[in-house]
Amino acid sequence: MATKRKILATFALTYANSTLHLGHLVGALQGDMWSRFQRMRGHDCFYISGSDSHGTPIMIQAEKMGITPKELITENHAKQRQDFIDFLVDFDSYQPTHSSDNQTLVEEIFKRHVKQNNIVQHTIKQFFDPVKNMFLPDRYIKGECPNCHAKDQYGDNCEVCGTTYLPTDLINPYSALSGAKPVEKESLHYFFKLQNFADFLTQWTRQGHIQETVSNKLDEWFKDGLREWDISRDKPYFGFQIPGETDKYFYVWLDAPVGYMASFKHLCNQRTNLNFDDYWNEDSTAELYHFIGKDIIYFHALFWPAILHGAQYRTPSEIFVNGFLTIDGQKMSKSRGTFIKARTYLDHLNPEYLRYYLAAKISDNIEDLDINFEDFTQRVNADLVGKFINIASRTASFINKYFAGQLSATCTEPALYNEFVQMGNEIENRINQMQFSHAIRLIMQLADRANQYIDEKKPWTLAKDPTRLQEVQDVCSMGLNLFRVLMIYLKPILPKTAKQVEEFLNVPELSWNDREKPLLNHTLREFQPLITRIDPKQIEALKMSAKEDIEKTITAIETPAVATTTNQAETSAHINIDDFGKIDLRIAKILEADSVEGADKLLRLKVALGEETRQIFAGIKSAYKPEELVGRHVVIVANLAPRKMRFGVSEGMVLCAGDGKDLFVICPDPGAESGMKVK
Ligand code: MSP
Ligand code: ZN
Repeated sequence: MATKRKILATFALTYANSTLHLGHLVGALQGDMWSRFQRMRGHDCFYISGSDSHGTPIMIQAEKMGITPKELITENHAKQRQDFIDFLVDFDSYQPTHSSDNQTLVEEIFKRHVKQNNIVQHTIKQFFDPVKNMFLPDRYIKGECPNCHAKDQYGDNCEVCGTTYLPTDLINPYSALSGAKPVEKESLHYFFKLQNFADFLTQWTRQGHIQETVSNKLDEWFKDGLREWDISRDKPYFGFQIPGETDKYFYVWLDAPVGYMASFKHLCNQRTNLNFDDYWNEDSTAELYHFIGKDIIYFHALFWPAILHGAQYRTPSEIFVNGFLTIDGQKMSKSRGTFIKARTYLDHLNPEYLRYYLAAKISDNIEDLDINFEDFTQRVNADLVGKFINIASRTASFINKYFAGQLSATCTEPALYNEFVQMGNEIENRINQMQFSHAIRLIMQLADRANQYIDEKKPWTLAKDPTRLQEVQDVCSMGLNLFRVLMIYLKPILPKTAKQVEEFLNVPELSWNDREKPLLNHTLREFQPLITRIDPKQIEALKMSAKEDIEKTITAIETPAVATTTNQAETSAHINIDDFGKIDLRIAKILEADSVEGADKLLRLKVALGEETRQIFAGIKSAYKPEELVGRHVVIVANLAPRKMRFGVSEGMVLCAGDGKDLFVICPDPGAESGMKVK
């Protein structure tokens, strides 16, 4: 092997105001597959990430939920981490940016820039919400579009006509948080003089650190001229206080990328032989790669190298930018019903399906990638199961049955075997250049070739003739050796299957160069079934659950915020007795309850409301067996507008208590009769 490289790869730190969706997985999986590939080739490669803890949206979200930002980010950090683990993403370190390691680094970097005169202060005017007592980021200001006069447009651009403008251009602006009319207010801010790095960046962006398509995008920004960057925010803000200030904080995008360093530092603190400076000093010979999506290029390809360079740290070796994920040709969006959470996918499908499917789509450009579920099913079933796994399943049984798991002593088709080994060089090149889809095409061509070989030799026919058993052993040994080479190539993509195959082949962890020698005279273990085909019903069920998730979030968004800080907001969070009177709560008796095919959370209930009967779909299947419910009295909202669902119309809502995990149907004391009003 050539010299052992020291590599540090990072994946963008996901915002801790929510859990993961499939879009986040694109870059995370790409980085994971690439890092696993480097490790298999014998290099040192650490893959790190974490969650992005700070900023206004996190503060607002926590307030809405009635918890502290710290509680919110802790909860989501754990959930995101588990989602990554379950998608087989192998992070060596996964840390929140809200950590003392990070704060120390940010302050140090800030001081170094102050010293070099890269930080200046100016007073600026901004919209201020007099009710919430806070400055409003652009996305929290709404109003009428100055161009087409569409109402309720955001502070930066109009979704109707597409015009971009300043929040101050909006007609009748209002705060999206309180509804109040914002006032303009002055405040002193800190700015990073990006233009001080114009020469450095012009060079840096042309030295092969970024993909060609990305350079072109950067050119537009260069043409516009590099501007000062506002790195401070006023209180209330969830972030790190600026040293020497009491009510000013670092803008989240300053401490977020520093979070990469902090996450690595955390790893160094745990491993005695790993040295932070070796990887981050200005003269470091280690390689640093960032995996990010195309929406955050500006921060990573301009600000970040400038921040690092000016603070005497090394700059990234390369930034790998991925396109955006679309679902069935549509942008991932809650309103379009194309939003899929990582956890919802995991509830229904094997993570390796997605890993394989994305690998088959990932290229070195930044075009968007689409998950078309028909294509997804077809690709996984035809390629992964029908071609690749099939090689093992059609040969292993003969070796186990006739030869007690023993492989032949010689490789009877050295030319064919060599063809497979040689292709490894080309596959390696492609993965190195991030052209996973190309690599997958080559691997599948080889799989076709292996199947063709087995088809020609027909071991199942040979096995019928007792004089030709040696040939059966040779052909099947050959088939399994070809399968083993393909497993090596697919190992970064299918780590779980690779583990099972190593187990079956009875070998230590496979590395890239293990392909060079076939397994001969070697005893295998019993073959266990590997990846199985996707049943289209699983896809149906996934889509159904995704829809239910969207309905849940939409209800959550519509629920008004509770207890806010000012008096005025507090009164608006109360309802009066007339508001309450509008809700018609009634006792209902459950007459029938049964599962709904294709919906794993719903039960169909038939309830009596006095004389009347109604059908209600209730999302309580996780907590109750249908038969447990029949005959019970429950409380329902009787005047909820009927809702048409895929399975029929739901004519009411059953009241339940819950904490997001467990669910408890609310039942009246014995004696209450169906139809009674609840007051
Ligand atoms: N917190 C910032 C990153 C800070 S890095 C110092 C952020 N977080 S994010 O949660 O919005 O996004 C995390 C990553 O997921 C980013 O690389 C982003 O580009 C990527 N994606 C978010 N939605 C995506 C798709 N729909 N498709 C592909 N990638 C997507 O940005
Ligand atoms: Zn408009």
